[in-house]
Amino acid sequence: MPGFDTLLPRPVSVTAAPGACPWPAPVTVRPAPELPAEGYRLAITPRGVTLTVADAAGEVYGRQTLRQLAGPDAFRAASIRSGLTLPCGVAEDHPRFGWRGCLLDVARHFRTKAEVLRFVDLLAAHKLNVLNLHLTDDQGWRIEVPRFPRLTSVGGWRRSSMVGRHDGPERDGRPHGGFYSADDLREIVAYAASRAVTVVPEIDVPGHARAAIAAYPKLGPDPDADWEVWTSWGISTSLLDPSESTLDFFRTVFDHLLDIFPSPVIGLGGDEVPGATEAHGRFVRDIAAHLASRGRQALGWDEVLDIDDLPPMVIGAWQDEARGQLAASRGHDVVLCPEDRVYLDHRQSDHPDEPIPVGYLRTLEDVYTYEPALTGPHLRGAQAQVWTEHLDTARRVDYAAFPRLSAFAELAWSTGPRDFAEFLPRLRDHHFPRLDALGVEYRPLDGPHPWQTRPDTPGRPR
Ligand code: ACM
Repeated sequence: MPGFDTLLPRPVSVTAAPGACPWPAPVTVRPAPELPAEGYRLAITPRGVTLTVADAAGEVYGRQTLRQLAGPDAFRAASIRSGLTLPCGVAEDHPRFGWRGCLLDVARHFRTKAEVLRFVDLLAAHKLNVLNLHLTDDQGWRIEVPRFPRLTSVGGWRRSSMVGRHDGPERDGRPHGGFYSADDLREIVAYAASRAVTVVPEIDVPGHARAAIAAYPKLGPDPDADWEVWTSWGISTSLLDPSESTLDFFRTVFDHLLDIFPSPVIGLGGDEVPGATEAHGRFVRDIAAHLASRGRQALGWDEVLDIDDLPPMVIGAWQDEARGQLAASRGHDVVLCPEDRVYLDHRQSDHPDEPIPVGYLRTLEDVYTYEPALTGPHLRGAQAQVWTEHLDTARRVDYAAFPRLSAFAELAWSTGPRDFAEFLPRLRDHHFPRLDALGVEYRPLDGPHPWQTRPDTPGRPR
């Protein structure tokens, strides 16, 4: 029977008591709105469990804690043995940050609906509460918009892909694509909501928009050119034409998004816009203002801070924390997601077998010991990022995300000092068996399994 000291993320406080409670047991849930938001208090006695909760999220998290206490088998899809027990005692818990996010890029490589639902389960199991769904990019458009069917009939797939990272013309010659209907997305939103996860969608403008331009060339810099959904990785220099008609088009697209996603925060991208003009800046500002006029707040990447007169936004500070400081000093809210700490597509070791090594070396310890320097009322929280240029399957996503996302979950949830030497055995001895039971193909601590290597595929380490 795992003790309270095996929990991940670590709770605020625990008082262990002797004895055990047979599991499953009746759980008495009591509301206590005076508890901190998303908080819960779990009291386990030999006779049963009382779960006192601040709100619906608090109940979700209290139940996740019970699942961890019952042992790894509680993470299987079906019960395979009887005789599970819970340790007796009391745990009091609430999160450090209100925004504990993970970005999943479904544009570069499409993830099926079933894969997204599973990813939501994994976020909830780690008490993460935001799924930032990156729905559009140069390489694919993943949300059906009935007024503009070519966004998915043309933009929803590419004829070929670069494999790994290189400068050559080689492509795999294999079509890649997929998209979600409005009802698929509503289902994902509802499923996530019942697990206390908010889905924050992102449509990236005015860069990273080549799939939209391929679908409707009048949106781009040259309506007569022969556009196609991009088959390369990197930063395309083809930007949206920031005209009034493009703005109208995207107001319609964002209105459709608002109809599906109840999230108070909606992503508009704004990152990596090479050669941006003032008109591109005005375009972003007008979309942000449009979202504000509909009662939503825009989430933009920190490049948008170069634009004047933005409405109050949420800024994803990815280039470095100083951009977060700047955003807060201008009155914006901030989600910290610095590339040099929490980009989970970056390589996790210098192991010679590390598959498709790209980006910086970002070890499990780097992620675990990341401590945001920014504090204050504008700090909403932190977010890990899973970009998928080099993660072409859900198995590759598992490998890149775990166990680093487990480490990230603890920094986003738990208060107090973190000691990697304490974390590591807790992860290895208690959390890995949970991930095993869930069927998560995480990276083993000492390097990839042979079938997780990709000796056929070049990377490009920084
Ligand atoms: C980003 O990594 N371009 C937000």
